[in-house]
Amino acid sequence: MSFLGLIGGIGLVGSVHNDIEKVLIAEEVIEKRLDAIAERIYGDFKDEPTLQVVAILKGALVFMADLLRRVPLKLEIECLNVASYHGGTESSGRVDFLDRTMPDVKGRSILLLDDILDTGRTLSVVSAKLQDLGAREVRTCVLLTKDKKRIEEVEADYSAFEIGDEFVVGYGLDFDGKYRNLPYVGVLRKEVIES
Ligand code: IMP
Ligand code: MG
Repeated sequence: MSFLGLIGGIGLVGSVHNDIEKVLIAEEVIEKRLDAIAERIYGDFKDEPTLQVVAILKGALVFMADLLRRVPLKLEIECLNVASYHGGTESSGRVDFLDRTMPDVKGRSILLLDDILDTGRTLSVVSAKLQDLGAREVRTCVLLTKDKKRIEEVEADYSAFEIGDEFVVGYGLDFDGKYRNLPYVGVLRKEVIES
C-alpha cells in the first residue's frame, strides 16, 4: 500500500483525504482488477504488430500508467487533451479537442483509454474522430462505467468497475482539477462540493 493510502483517514493537516466521505474502490481492489483487464488486452491484441494506445487526458493519466505497465505488448502511447467537464459535477454536454494536432492513426488498431464512461459523449465523439482520421479499429477501455441511462449509445470494450450514478474522484478523476492523485476512487464530502 502506498504512503497516501496508508495514512488515508488519519486526518493529517492539509491531507487531501480529509475531504473524502467514503472510499468506494480501494487501491488493492483496483490493482487486482487491472491485472485481469491487462491479461484480456494482451490476449486480444497479441497478434497485432504494434498496438496504438490513445489516452484521454487528464482523467486517464493514472489509469493509463498503472494499466499499461501490466501489458507486455509493443505498444505506442498517444494522448489527447479533451475537455468535457468544466468545473462542476455535471457534464457540460460539449466535447472540446484542445490539441493543435491529432495523432497519426491511419490504418492502426487503437485502444482508447478514458477514466469513466458517464454520459458516453466523450468516448463516442473521440472514437468517431479516430475513425474519421482513418483508424482501422477502435476499442475502448475505461476504469469506471456509471450505471445510468447514457445520452450516447456506447459501451466500453473493457471496463474495470461499474459504479452507481454518483460523482467520484481519485485515481485520475478530478473535482475542479483536484483529487486526481488519490490512490483510490472515493466520494467527496458534501461540504467540499458545495463550498
Ligand atoms: P462523459 O459524460 O461520458 O462524456 O464523460 C466525460 C468526462 O466527465 C469523463 O472523462 C470525466 O473526466 C468526467 N466525469 C464524468 N463523471 C465523473 C465523476 O463522477 N467524477 C469526475 N469526473 C467525471
Ligand atoms: Mg474530468
